Amino acid sequence: MAKKIFIGVAWPYVNGALHVGHLAGYMLPADIFARYCRFKGYETVMVSGADCHGSPITIEAEKKGITPEKLIAIYYPKILSLIKKYNISFDIFTSTTTTIHKKNVQRFFINLLRNGYIFKRDSYQFFSVTKKKFLPDRYIEGQCKYCQALQQRADQCDVCGRLLEPQDLLNPYDKLTKEAIELRKTEHYAFDLGQFESELKKFIQQANHWRKWVKRESLGFLKEGLKARDITRDILWGVKLPVKDIPKDLLLKNISQKRFYVWFEAVIGYVSATMELSQYIKNDKNYWQEIWFNKDWQHYYFMGKDNLIFHTILWPAELLGQRENYNLPFFPAVNNFLLFNEQKFSKSRGVMIDALSLAKRFDPDLIRFYITAIMPENKDTNFQWENLEKVINTELVNKISNFIHRVAVFYLKNFDNSFTNNDIENEIIKNIKRFYASMDFNLEHCKFLNYYKNLIDYIDFANNYLTQKAPWHLIHNERHKALKIIVNALQLIYSLRLPLALIMPTTEEKITKMFGFDKISVQVNKDNFQFEKIPYCKFKNKNINPLFAKVNLE
Ligand code: MF3
Ligand code: ZN
Repeated sequence: MAKKIFIGVAWPYVNGALHVGHLAGYMLPADIFARYCRFKGYETVMVSGADCHGSPITIEAEKKGITPEKLIAIYYPKILSLIKKYNISFDIFTSTTTTIHKKNVQRFFINLLRNGYIFKRDSYQFFSVTKKKFLPDRYIEGQCKYCQALQQRADQCDVCGRLLEPQDLLNPYDKLTKEAIELRKTEHYAFDLGQFESELKKFIQQANHWRKWVKRESLGFLKEGLKARDITRDILWGVKLPVKDIPKDLLLKNISQKRFYVWFEAVIGYVSATMELSQYIKNDKNYWQEIWFNKDWQHYYFMGKDNLIFHTILWPAELLGQRENYNLPFFPAVNNFLLFNEQKFSKSRGVMIDALSLAKRFDPDLIRFYITAIMPENKDTNFQWENLEKVINTELVNKISNFIHRVAVFYLKNFDNSFTNNDIENEIIKNIKRFYASMDFNLEHCKFLNYYKNLIDYIDFANNYLTQKAPWHLIHNERHKALKIIVNALQLIYSLRLPLALIMPTTEEKITKMFGFDKISVQVNKDNFQFEKIPYCKFKNKNINPLFAKVNLE
């Protein structure tokens, strides 16, 4: 059946260059999945954008002594060129600064208010006596009262993953000046998450297709009970409150000095992005409603594990609270972290591999290949230079690139484009079909590591075939037999393109062009990737170069 798939990819903050962790954590797996869906003929929409608000942005702008607007003007284009360089195939990549998004956030808020899920309350926020102002969460550090971890932010503990309220932070201090700070009263809107507990429990409990640990952690948050969360902040950067639409008695004191909390606002971007897609790209004003209200659509989300609670608890609650029957997340593809030599990427500590500069040093497809091999799907994994060298040289160069090169050279030298029949051995057909079925299953379940393993098994099979049949021994006395073998090897390359195209789209295009194949055909209404016999093969350029050379990082 041709499915309809919405793919929401976490929105990166535009406060710095993206590192390979962003690629491995969500951009690349989402792209592999989107490409798979499109090849299967599924109606596919993949969206994301730049997360432009909140203190991650203001802090960085202050550090640099520039405005948030200027900061965004510096980094937004860099994110766009990274997306282009690495071929991340978004249908739209927007930002949270658009008018459509701002209006949409206000609409979401008003609906929640009308439906009784938002109330105002006095809350206590950190106030700096020397700076005479409230400080946003990110400017603050202290100790998590639940797990005792030091140096935690005021909104979430990175160690135990819990959402924190200001009073949950022990011994708080201003991160920049290290001065002690105090809690002061201020009025805010709170989102009453507790009202969604039973609905969320039901929603998560039925989700047996989620990764086990994702389901376990999400249910864990529910076990502790959901407390109301403040969804506004004393900050001047962010989406404004829709003052005119709020009943007088519900207005906050000082409301013009407040903005929406970035997490409440950013997730709504998934809807805003589809509205922009409808308006600017699809020219169909109602397309976004198709995606969000037609139950045929399945919604996938890709993110790192620090985003988990926002996508499995907060976002579903915001959607449920609209009471308009929005489609809820179907599958949250949550990844663990990619580390660099066992350490978390951190610009301040100098642990950083800027993905854009990496793309200048290496073919982006090569990086896509390596990152797929070490994807942090089930546990944290490590980016290591020696390991990159090993994986690239043994798997990509020795196995994939060499196979293609050997076959091409041998074929051209001995048969010079004289491909005549496609008499393919049953054994080959059977094996390709078996690999396809397995890859299909793994992708359908977002098991990218297994998929990578399938790919390596496939190429091992291909290399073994060629080594065993050794057509070079037959070329002088049994030419027709040698041709038959090489046509089977060409079939293996022909069919390898489909799985390869998801991980290395540019390389696949090169292969297709080099061998003179037709483009891979999109498969509609088929349950599995379909095996297709190689129809012909016609090199235009007979000067063959290997696709990849060995990496030497000495
Ligand atoms: N900007 C957040 C981060 O980098 C992710 C936001 S995802 C969104 O962790 F959906 F909320 F936008
Ligand atoms: Zn903690």
